[in-house]
Amino acid sequence: MFLPVKSLLFAAIRPTPTLLFPVIRASLLSLTMALSACGGSDDNNVSDIPNNPAPPMIPDDDNNGNNDNSQAEADTNWLPSGGSATISADINRPFLQIMPNLPSSALGGVSPGRELFITHWTPAGEGRMLFDGVGPLLNANACTQCHSAEGRKPIYRENNELSDAILFRLGDKQGQAHAYYGEQMQHQSIDANIEAEGRVQYVTTAASDYAPAGVRFNFTPTDHNQPLGSTVMSGRISPQLVGMGLIDLIPEASIVAAADPNNRNKDGVSGRVHWVDVDGSQRIGRFGWKAINASLRIQNANAMSQDMGLTTSLFMEPNCTVNQPICWTAINGGSPEVTDSSLDAVTDFMTALAVPERRISDLQTFNKGANLFVQVGCASCHTPKQKTGDSLRFPLLSQQTIYPYTDLLLHDMGTGLDDGVKEKNAESFEWRTPPLWGIGIVARDPEARFLHDGRASSLTEAILWHGGEAEATKMRFKQLPIAQKETLLSFLSGI
Ligand code: HEC
Ligand code: HEC
Repeated sequence: MFLPVKSLLFAAIRPTPTLLFPVIRASLLSLTMALSACGGSDDNNVSDIPNNPAPPMIPDDDNNGNNDNSQAEADTNWLPSGGSATISADINRPFLQIMPNLPSSALGGVSPGRELFITHWTPAGEGRMLFDGVGPLLNANACTQCHSAEGRKPIYRENNELSDAILFRLGDKQGQAHAYYGEQMQHQSIDANIEAEGRVQYVTTAASDYAPAGVRFNFTPTDHNQPLGSTVMSGRISPQLVGMGLIDLIPEASIVAAADPNNRNKDGVSGRVHWVDVDGSQRIGRFGWKAINASLRIQNANAMSQDMGLTTSLFMEPNCTVNQPICWTAINGGSPEVTDSSLDAVTDFMTALAVPERRISDLQTFNKGANLFVQVGCASCHTPKQKTGDSLRFPLLSQQTIYPYTDLLLHDMGTGLDDGVKEKNAESFEWRTPPLWGIGIVARDPEARFLHDGRASSLTEAILWHGGEAEATKMRFKQLPIAQKETLLSFLSGI
């Protein structure tokens, strides 16, 4: 599905320093050994070998006088996009790669974490102690059924059927979950006695004067006595996982400093922090399409609980509601089913995920695109540059300048993207600015989908769905001459 353009894409990138190689080779060896010793996986979706480690350096010598419109000029002293976690982009398996130059001492958690991430978990009682306990209700039995090394999993199938890689949140504008189904629909169960909750199909909607082409979803409950009623269903596609450890390390103070809830600077963009309660204290939500999870560890435990039916010390109860009594009778795989050390290992693996390096065929055009990105206003939310704080566990991730293209804030995206579901304190029309690094790699797959429910089938369509605080930016984008639009889109392809 990917074009064989690697050599072309990297043509503009300067040869890279080699001093990191000895460390990498050593850690590679021990990683491979650790994995073969563990051997519990039955899926090889994730490649175990960190690629050519040296991050690209792009010289700051080429951006003078190209900026017709002279607003703030984009930063063109391009450091590696993911700091020390940058990895050369393997066209076939660009994601779920472990950051290069990870010392072998750090692999203790990362390798078993990778195993837990790729394994197909089984229901309790089937003799796989370490990997059992999924269900009773679930969306999928492996993290890799939704998060792939290639990009985004295809979600739209023939005959209006959907794949497992899209899930549905349930709720309403007040944040009320469904009394029977809870806050997420699970379309599978481990046991014929326990009813899967139902099935969802999609229909595409044509572009109109008011909205670009999109999709609509229809739910058929297994138990016809349990209609959705006034509860709304919101589709969520599985994002590519890029530089998760770096995102986790962006200091709360930086996120707060960028917020402008009352639009004081009058730019029409008023990002706000999603404060969520974590054990009685207020923390900044940063993971998920509505930023409901305050840390990578919480996000992972939440995925285990809601998507796979695995209990952890953070979510001790099975994902059955009080109105699903049979669900509670299912056999469990321990209390909790996933131990703290397993949860920590998965979190280590997620933390060590690399960022694919930029893919630039022409630096001058790339820099023009970067400037357009700032000029039309994309960068007001998709903040190009962030700096990480300190990590004791992964010192290599500390104090890194990174280019995730997100402010991690919630924005009012208008009625077109209002999904009718409030989650924690994020209103139905509010969404977290998603990071854009790696989005161009995702977009190479003609089946790739964008936005929270995958309604957009191209980057342009995704932009055209922007409204609310992004309305003015969208209009500026629409008014760009075709050549400039292409320059902006080629920039997106390269970040
Ligand atoms: C059924 C599909 C599915 C499975 C299985 C699944 N995920 Fe996810 N994952 C998603 C979706 C959808 C989102 C976005 C969730 C949202 O917005 O609420 C997500 C979000 C994430 C994020 C945050 C990404 C970001 O940019 O904020 C992480 C990290 C993650 N998942 C890790 C995991 C781990 C670890 C597992 C296995 C324990 C897992 N996921 C299993 C679908 C899945
Ligand atoms: C007001 C803040 C804001 C502005 C301005 C903005 N975006 Fe976004 N962008 C978002 C949010 C929030 C989402 C997620 C919306 C959703 O999923 O429903 C998003 C989603 C996207 C996506 C889809 C990402 C994915 O993972 O599927 C792309 C691509 C994108 N924006 C590019 C742009 C470009 C290019 C511009 C400038 C023309 C721009 N955005 C301007 C906030 C903004």
